[in-house]
Amino acid sequence: MLNVNDTIQQTRENQKFVSIIIPTFNESMNITDLLNQIQSHIPIETNVEIIIVDDNSPDGTGHIVEKYIAEKMYQPNSVNDKETRTINHLNKNISIKVIHRREKAGLISALVNGIGLSRGQNVLIMDADFSHPPEVINKMITELKNQPNCIIIGSRYIRGGAIKGMPFKRFLLSVGANFIARHGLSLKNVYDPMSGFFAFPKHALQDVEFNTNGFKILLEILIKKKSNICVKEIPYTFKDRKHGQSKLDLPIILDYLKAVWKLYRYGRKSKKQDTQSEKRRSVRFISKAARFYTVGASGVVLNYLVSILLSNGFFGSLGYLQATAIGIAVSVTTNFLLNKFWTFEDKNVEAIRFIKQYGMFVGCSSLGILIQFLSIYFLSESGISYDISLLLGVTIASVSNFLFNKKLTFKENIWD
Ligand code: GDD
Ligand code: MN
Repeated sequence: MLNVNDTIQQTRENQKFVSIIIPTFNESMNITDLLNQIQSHIPIETNVEIIIVDDNSPDGTGHIVEKYIAEKMYQPNSVNDKETRTINHLNKNISIKVIHRREKAGLISALVNGIGLSRGQNVLIMDADFSHPPEVINKMITELKNQPNCIIIGSRYIRGGAIKGMPFKRFLLSVGANFIARHGLSLKNVYDPMSGFFAFPKHALQDVEFNTNGFKILLEILIKKKSNICVKEIPYTFKDRKHGQSKLDLPIILDYLKAVWKLYRYGRKSKKQDTQSEKRRSVRFISKAARFYTVGASGVVLNYLVSILLSNGFFGSLGYLQATAIGIAVSVTTNFLLNKFWTFEDKNVEAIRFIKQYGMFVGCSSLGILIQFLSIYFLSESGISYDISLLLGVTIASVSNFLFNKKLTFKENIWD
């Protein structure tokens, strides 16, 4: 199955802004007209490639496209390229290619193949039968430019969107399938998750592997996209196909139900993993806090012992100021070392980093003292008794001490 990372790599080497991917099976009556119309709706100066993925259509669709490319498209090496260009009034930034597949292997697999061989930063997907109006492409491309982190969906079910000329049976099927997807797969915020007309930046699919069959690749994209990718719907009017026949049949409806079931299970599994990792995260946070305060407590004891033993003649008979200063210096240092190696498990002993961290640790601890003074001052000035203020002040200072050191000294995320 396709891993989208490969195409992201290719993309960097030969940038196109968007690859328009069109699957075809027996679309000979539509394809020429469609290629003409699409090209007239691409904004100038936008680098576009159009990829037709044809499944060896018996009516010769694939060959018609080959002929179209040879006769009408701009050929960089051709002698009469000027002439060719004027014949077809087309712009050099547009190229067309056909992928010929050996046999009819399904719409999703055609699209996955197309995406795999595309060189666009973005991908736009549409049908070949004029159900998806080429004039909307312009708007989609503009949206891709304005919202580089969004999937842009051509939508029949938002204000301004509509369906025209669809047989009633198909309409019911479409509405039913839509209901199942939106409610069964928790896609309530998307009005047309079954759309076959949409565009997205390739990075939205980093690490995604497709493994459903049928017609509804957008569903899989919506379920598996990265969480920071937004969805924007723009309205359009779906028209029944101009020529030829729909390929929607019973096996495709069954494929659809299978796909929904697979994606439903996928969604549940990843939710479970999320809660598990959320749990692991809070355990990590609490255990780090516990170690940090254990270190703090050991520091208090050490501070006390060192100062006493240096002043009472056991190790020396220093004055109490000097003894206190040395007590503080020793405990701050041991606190730092224990927190570095034990609490935050930072084994890096590079000298410069070490000194910077030590400085930051002393800074954060002093900030803690300042915070303690200030909070006690404000609390007791506002009428709260000293013992309660002290308790609150110590708590606020120790919590902020932990958080500041976690974030600033040891460069961790607060909640991680
Ligand atoms: N290469 C290839 N292989 N193309 C295929 C295949 C296939 O097996 N099956 C269908 N296509 C192509 C058709 O030639 C057409 O361009 C496009 O895929 C859609 O096929 P239709 O047969 O026109 O499908 P539809 O009109 O019933 O369904 C469309 O409408 C739905 C909305 O109700 C599709 O666009 C769906 O994606 C869309 O959700
Ligand atoms: Mn159709």
